[in-house]
Amino acid sequence: MSSPDAITLTGVEHAYGDVTAVGPIDLTVPEGEFLVLVGASGCGKSTLLRLIAGFEQPTTGTVRTGDTAPVPGRGAGMVFQQPRLLPWKTVGGNVELGLGYAGVADRRERVEELLAGVGLPGVSKRRTWQISGGQQQRVAIARALAVDNPLLLLDEPFAALDALTRERLQEDLRRVSAATGRTSVFVTHSVDEAVFLGSRVVVLTARPGRIALDLRIDLPRSGITPDELRGRPEYAALRSEIGHAVRAAAHLEGSPT
Ligand SMILES: Nc1ncnc2c1ncn2[C@@H]1O[C@H](COP(=O)(O)OP(=O)(O)O)[C@@H](O)[C@H]1O
Ligand SMILES: [Mg+2]
Repeated sequence: MSSPDAITLTGVEHAYGDVTAVGPIDLTVPEGEFLVLVGASGCGKSTLLRLIAGFEQPTTGTVRTGDTAPVPGRGAGMVFQQPRLLPWKTVGGNVELGLGYAGVADRRERVEELLAGVGLPGVSKRRTWQISGGQQQRVAIARALAVDNPLLLLDEPFAALDALTRERLQEDLRRVSAATGRTSVFVTHSVDEAVFLGSRVVVLTARPGRIALDLRIDLPRSGITPDELRGRPEYAALRSEIGHAVRAAAHLEGSPT
């Protein structure tokens, strides 16, 4: 038996009052894909993620994750632009929250393992304000990975970081993602980030967001250094193609409402 697709959107539209934010969108995300959504500010990217997480219901159409409708708070780890850590808990305590309801017996060990996985070994006893913004965002990723959720949803998680830190986190997320194979949807404005991280990139039109371009990124997912990857001729070609599409799509309205 083949497993169901991880995410299926069928004729999905979402409106806030009389403002249509997204759609209609048809999109199927197979298991293990790292999908990057790129589009101008206000085109409906966050709305799409919230629909996939089950925090919003589509105005029309259906959203499926696996073979059911998404249940809010279940089935998807989320990472936002701000780390949203609880300051009264230690770093390890924040990651443990991800394990909270999962009934994991050897929590301590699992927390250490998750922190080491995002490049933060030995910091679990620290306070969240004792680590840098980039490290806090690593903790947020570890927390999102903690539960064995089928989905990882990331909404511009690196947008508030300085350029160098951002590059480091991109590199580590790429490695972690190749290792876990978790189906992921990552939202960004950055074309470079999209090509670097995605196994597939979808460019959205201006509001209401519709699919303007849907491109497979045929670059190796592992066994290549970030510099080698960025130096590939296909990398430059993809950047240029997606960059053009993003600029064109920003002027393209999804529908003539
Ligand atoms: N809760 C809300 N109520 C009303 N309008 C909203 C709400 N959330 C988003 N919008 C509007 O929907 C559109 C898409 O928003 P959003 O999904 O946040 O876009 P993006 O993440 O691409 O910037 C925007 O025009 C925004 O102003
Ligand atoms: Mg947004």
